[in-house]
Amino acid sequence: MERKRVLSGVQPTGVLHLGNWLGAIRNWVELQHQHDTFFCVVDLHAITVPHDPALLAHQTRQTAALYLACGIDPQLATVFVQSHVPAHSELCWLLNCITPLNWLERMIQFKEKANKQGSQTSVGLLDYPVLMAADILLYNADLVPVGEDQKQHLELARNIAQQRLNTRFAPHRETILNVPEPLIFPEGARVMSLTDGRNKMSKSDPNDNSRINLLDAPEVVRKKIKRAKTDAATGLTFDDPERPEASNLLALYALLSGGSRAAAAEECGQMGWGQFKGMLSEVVVDALRPIQQRHGELMGDPAVLDRVLSQGRQRAEPVAKASLERVRTALGLVPRNLELS
Ligand code: AMP
Ligand code: TRP
Repeated sequence: MERKRVLSGVQPTGVLHLGNWLGAIRNWVELQHQHDTFFCVVDLHAITVPHDPALLAHQTRQTAALYLACGIDPQLATVFVQSHVPAHSELCWLLNCITPLNWLERMIQFKEKANKQGSQTSVGLLDYPVLMAADILLYNADLVPVGEDQKQHLELARNIAQQRLNTRFAPHRETILNVPEPLIFPEGARVMSLTDGRNKMSKSDPNDNSRINLLDAPEVVRKKIKRAKTDAATGLTFDDPERPEASNLLALYALLSGGSRAAAAEECGQMGWGQFKGMLSEVVVDALRPIQQRHGELMGDPAVLDRVLSQGRQRAEPVAKASLERVRTALGLVPRNLELS
């Protein structure tokens, strides 16, 4: 099978949670064995909303360390920091100039976030999807693993590549940049909030009890699960749409205990909430233990992580520069005589 190019990224805002791991990074770990994978920490996206400069560098490192702690192998995958490869910002500018404003104004995530920011909404927030398109298109990614909520941004990246760039600026119908496909992983990968089974577990929920962060200490995990929303029924099931919390926690149990959903449903079908929550807590604590240990080692020895990120930058940069140069040339900018690799 031909190796496809894969690119994805997560913003270094807050600590990654169980949803980020089970819904995103765990899948990347599988992909790195079959494909040519690029995983970046998108720090330039993290500053599109107000942020604390004293925390950003730490959170960027922490996010990269968590990629590795979750099993991303820098021998197989290219792990890097978005802002270390300036071609991301540069391509973003070029794409800005060929992207219609109204394509951005109708992005759902922009409308939601801009509603919260009001008159403080930054130009960067509006431009966020173009920067994301640049991230993807620079590497000629074939596949982009993302959650449902990012599908609209991916469609935008496809439209920019196809309609605004390849069709308009390639006179001989050659492809300037590859048109990527989304890779959306199946259900079960969507982890819901502990305080409301109808909402996604999210970094931006102001209530920390709604999520389990990958770095939560065992007693914090136990406390959060103990407090997690339940219902009046006995027995855990996947099948009752009126019981989203039961279904979510049972799915977590199945995923982390390594058994099938059917086995989990069988095992916990008659169980009371108290007994189930105790079991679930231990499964979560056991799953997080090796991640936390590896993360601690990496953060305790910054030289190792810095080497990984520097190597990642060195592998990413030539690929990005070659794409950038093709776009520059297509748009009519004077070539910079790069030695293309
Ligand atoms: P975010 O935390 O929104 O920056 O998302 C980073 C990655 O994690 C994206 O690929 C999301 O689709 C994935 N993700 C975020 N929250 C969840 C969740 N609750 N369940 C599953 N995947 C998630
Ligand atoms: N917007 C994505 C998110 O919030 C993060 C992201 C930025 C991304 N650039 C990307 C994801 C490129 C995939 C590919 O999840």
